[in-house]
Amino acid sequence: MEHTTVISPAEIEKQLSYCQAVAERNARRPEEKLLAFVDTYGCQQNEADSECIRGYLEQMGFGFTHDEEQARIIVINTCAIREHAEQRVFGNVGALVHVKRRHPDTLICLCGCMVQQPHAAKKLRESYRHVDLVFGPHALWKFPEMVHTLLTQRGRVFQTPDVAGSIAEGIPVVRQDSIKAWVSIMYGCNNFCSYCVVPYVRGRERSRKPQDILAEVRRLVEEGYKDITLLGQNVNSYGKDLDKPTDFADLLEAVNAIPGDFLIRFMTSHPKDATQRLFETMARCEKVAPVLHLPFQAGNDRVLKVMNRRHTRAEYLEKIRRLKALIPDIVLTSDIIVGFPGETTEEFEDTLRVLEEVRFDALFTFIYSPRPGTPAAEMDDPMSREEKLANFNRLTALQDAISEEKHAAYVGKTLRCLIDGLSDDSRYDLTARTPGNRLLRVVGAAAPGQFRDVKITGANKWSLFGELV
Ligand code: SAH
Ligand code: SF4
Ligand code: F3S
Repeated sequence: MEHTTVISPAEIEKQLSYCQAVAERNARRPEEKLLAFVDTYGCQQNEADSECIRGYLEQMGFGFTHDEEQARIIVINTCAIREHAEQRVFGNVGALVHVKRRHPDTLICLCGCMVQQPHAAKKLRESYRHVDLVFGPHALWKFPEMVHTLLTQRGRVFQTPDVAGSIAEGIPVVRQDSIKAWVSIMYGCNNFCSYCVVPYVRGRERSRKPQDILAEVRRLVEEGYKDITLLGQNVNSYGKDLDKPTDFADLLEAVNAIPGDFLIRFMTSHPKDATQRLFETMARCEKVAPVLHLPFQAGNDRVLKVMNRRHTRAEYLEKIRRLKALIPDIVLTSDIIVGFPGETTEEFEDTLRVLEEVRFDALFTFIYSPRPGTPAAEMDDPMSREEKLANFNRLTALQDAISEEKHAAYVGKTLRCLIDGLSDDSRYDLTARTPGNRLLRVVGAAAPGQFRDVKITGANKWSLFGELV
C-alpha cells in the first residue's frame, strides 16, 4: 500500500474543468432539464461524501431529483458495515435494470465503502452489467473525470484502487440542510477492530489541516449554520499524522473560538483515546454540545480483547465517571454489538451491567454480522440466531426502560433548544433538539435555525414534548 496522497489544488482544478466539459455537453440538450439522483446509505461520512458528489454534479449542470425515472445520472453511495446494508444495495441496484432499459442513456454509478471490497466489485462487474461506473472512496475526488470518460468513450469504468487513501481540499459541495452541517476532519481508520470492515475500505487515518477545517467552519457559521458536527471514524486520534502534530482537544478549542452562535458536536470517539484533556476541553468550551457518543461494543473484557478494542470495561467506566464529574448533565450514547463470535450469554450480561451503571440516553444496537476479510469472520460462532435475537431483545428492553426514565426527568425543565424544522405531527408546530441532541416536538411559532427556550411538558422513550417560553 502507498502512503496517503495529497491531491493538489491543480488536480481539483482539472476535475472542475471536466465538470465544465460535461456541462457544455449537457447544454447542447437545452430541451431537457438534466437531473441527477444521489442515494446515500451508511453513516455521516457517506452523507458528507454525497455532498461532494452533488457539488460536482451541480458543476456539471445537473439539477436534483428523488425520482429514478427522471434522472439522467444515478449515483448510489453504498455502505458495507453489515451484510444487511449490502443486501439492500444489491436489491435496489438490481431493480435499476428496468430503468436502464427504459432510459439507456441514464448513467448508473455505484460508489462508497461496499464497492471497495473485492467481492462486491467482482459481483458488480460480472452480474450487474447495467452499472456503468464503480468507484471506491479513494477515487471520489476524480468523479468528474470518470463521468467524462463514460460520456466520451465506450465501455464501463471501474476505479477501486487499494491505496492508503488521499486528502483533497476544494471539492465543491451541495449541502442537504441549511442548519446542520457535517465537516470531515479526518478520513480512514487504523484501529482494525476484528469485526469491522471500515479500515479495509476507507484506508489509513489521515487528518485535514486545522486551517482548512477552521476556514470551512467559519464559512458555515457566516452562511448561518447553527449545528456543526466534526466527523471522523476516531476523532480522538486527529492530528497524529500531521507534520505539525496537534490533537483533537486543540482543534475543538480552536473551533470553539470562532465567533458566532452555534453548536459543535463530533463523532465518533474511541474509548481508548478519549482523554481527560478532551473531557476538560468539552467542559470549558461553551459551544461544544454536552453530548458524547462513546461506543463500548461489549461489556466483557474477554470479548473486548478478541474484538481488538484495546480497552477494558473498568477503563471505560472510569472514563465515564470522570466525564460525568466534569459535565453532570452530559448526554451519553453508545454502539453495541450483540452476538460477537464466541460471546456467551453470561458474557453478554456484562453488557447489560454496563447499561445499568452508565445509564445511556440512547443506544445504537446491532447483531454481529460477519464481514468477509475481517478476522472475526473466521472465528467460531456457535450461538444460534434465535439466542442472539433473544439477547438483543433483552438489551433493547433494558435500554428502552432507561431512555424512558431519563426522558421523564426532563419534564418541567426549560432548555435552550435549536429549532430545526417543522413537525410532521399535527399536534406540534416544530421540531427541535436539546443541547444534548435529544429530539423534541414543540408547540409555538419560531423560525427553524433559531435557539429558543423551550419548556419540556412531556416525554416518551423516543422523544420529548414542549412549548416555547
Ligand atoms: N468508528 C466508529 C464506528 C463505526 S461503525 C467506532 O469505532 O465507534 C458503527 C458501528 O457499527 C460500530 O460502532 C459497531 O457497533 C457497528 N458494527 C461495525 N461492524 C459491525 C459488524 N460486523 N456487525 C455488527 N455491527 C457492526
Ligand atoms: Fe471500525 Fe473500530 Fe475503526 Fe470504528 S474504530 S471504524 S469500529 S475499526
Ligand atoms: Fe458504512 Fe462506510 Fe460508514 S461502511 S458505516 S458508510 S464508513
